[in-house]
Amino acid sequence: MSIIVTWYSHACFLIETDDAKLLIDPFITDNPLAPIKADEIEADYILVSHGHGDHVGDTVAIAKRTAATVISNFEIQNWLVSQGIEKVHPQHIGGGFDYPWGRVKLTQALHGSALPDGSYGGNPCGFLLYIQGKKLYHACDTGLFYDMKLIGEEGIDLAILPIGDNFTMGPEDALRAVKLIEPAQVIPIHYNTFDVIKQDPHAWADRVRAETSAKVAVMNPGDQIEV
Ligand code: NI
Ligand code: MN
Repeated sequence: MSIIVTWYSHACFLIETDDAKLLIDPFITDNPLAPIKADEIEADYILVSHGHGDHVGDTVAIAKRTAATVISNFEIQNWLVSQGIEKVHPQHIGGGFDYPWGRVKLTQALHGSALPDGSYGGNPCGFLLYIQGKKLYHACDTGLFYDMKLIGEEGIDLAILPIGDNFTMGPEDALRAVKLIEPAQVIPIHYNTFDVIKQDPHAWADRVRAETSAKVAVMNPGDQIEV
């Protein structure tokens, strides 16, 4: 009945609904913080936000082994097909689709998206998930944008926001993002995987709790919460 959300570190989550296992941005093998091996992960669907290696990660290998359907933008879908992946569902920014287990809408993200081999990866995205009456927003890699307020108008139960700085929002802008989105709960991500994105998530959580009404879940890799 509840949705089980497991953080595999960086931007990677496993979201288990009553009907399906959704894996987001499976960066595992080259990820020093990953608490699991890529060949141990089960998935029915894999969602890929953009082309960078720390998000595409092990998508091709996991999709081939599990026969999961990959959801991504149209350009990444073309690349996945060229890598031998047959079960794909292309979407694009602003568009939603009703899957058997819930709805996925692609949101904008301010970032880049070239694939590891240099192929064009289209525009990067975030994910708005409508599952079992809950709304989850995974911002993926992005800078702050004021239209997060529009996403917040949907009534977000769980927001997943990068705080690492350098490649994405840092702690200051992520705090502003919480104020724009006003989620019931927030998880900070995309920090401490590499030296250049070192942050103290507990210090950030203290500020969010002091300045907003959002609950904060600071997770260790492998931790689960229920939504
Ligand atoms: Ni990126
Ligand atoms: Mn990234």
